[in-house]
Amino acid sequence: MKLAVIEGDGIGREVIPAAVKVLDAFGLEFEIVPLELGYTRWERTGTAMSSEDLDTIKGCDAVLFGAVTTVPDPSYKSVLLTIRKELDLYANIRPVKPLPGITGVAGRNDFDFIIVRENTEGLYSGIEEIGPELSWTKRIITRKGSERIAEYACKLAKERKNRLTIVHKSNVLKSDKLFLDVCRKTAAAYGIEYGDMLVDSMAYSLIMHPERYDVVVTTNLFGDILSDMCAALVGSLGLVPSANIGDRYAFFEPVHGSAPDIAGKGIANPLAAILCVKMLLEWMGESRSRIIDEAIAHVLQKKIITPDLGGTASTIEVGNAVAEYIVKNV
Ligand code: IPM
Ligand code: MG
Repeated sequence: MKLAVIEGDGIGREVIPAAVKVLDAFGLEFEIVPLELGYTRWERTGTAMSSEDLDTIKGCDAVLFGAVTTVPDPSYKSVLLTIRKELDLYANIRPVKPLPGITGVAGRNDFDFIIVRENTEGLYSGIEEIGPELSWTKRIITRKGSERIAEYACKLAKERKNRLTIVHKSNVLKSDKLFLDVCRKTAAAYGIEYGDMLVDSMAYSLIMHPERYDVVVTTNLFGDILSDMCAALVGSLGLVPSANIGDRYAFFEPVHGSAPDIAGKGIANPLAAILCVKMLLEWMGESRSRIIDEAIAHVLQKKIITPDLGGTASTIEVGNAVAEYIVKNV
């Protein structure tokens, strides 16, 4: 198993080393390939990511990624979006689940759902024209793209509560009718109980009734927006991991960005990055991944937590504490 490790910029450089400590605690055979990509790399060399870097990534099986700061160059192409496209990582999986003792904005702990976000098309098509008077972006919905994400979501629902919610805006965006039809058809074929919601009412409902949902499937931008909102349900952006999955590769990144405002202080919360390690191990079929939940519950209970959660621990102290628990108990 070859794992590319990309810390990136800002707090990516702090949370990823903490996550790697946790990965090391499992004593698995990994060939780690460190790669420097992003803003800092661009400042040093004039490129945020080269085609050789992409080849190196394609020579690995999976990627553990921190965050990359956007480069202030009009011709800059997002490193993250380029990798998603090049590796055809079509499913962006974002589990939304409370952590013990932490309550988010809605003041509740009775939810456990997963956002399955289409990750290659929609408003992220990259087909756009920018002008002083008129700017537009083409929103692409294909049958093939909708089918594969619907299938991914249905398989996941089968392993869970067999419930799927399709989120769209087909009352206004006619392109979403295709997405909705394909998802309905796929869910029916899989024998899954399904319903659909317009994205605006879904935003409201996720805050008011998060316990109603199991697997939520949606298009690219809606999934992007809803997943940040749902991080507030959990309690912090620093607590939500994500996996970008394709047929050949997988790429794991915390939902938070590079957070330049707190970078370099050693206070970033590494739990989202650590939960990414859990998703990586799950993707590999490593059943011991579950101990990460236990280890996190342990550090939360011992109040070994970063300032965003009201504690005084540093990023690496949290990483070390989680890793130590795993070494002792795995
Ligand atoms: C995310 C991020 C990215 C996205 C940005 C950084 C391109 O917000 O992973 O959610 O929009 O997908
Ligand atoms: Mg986002």
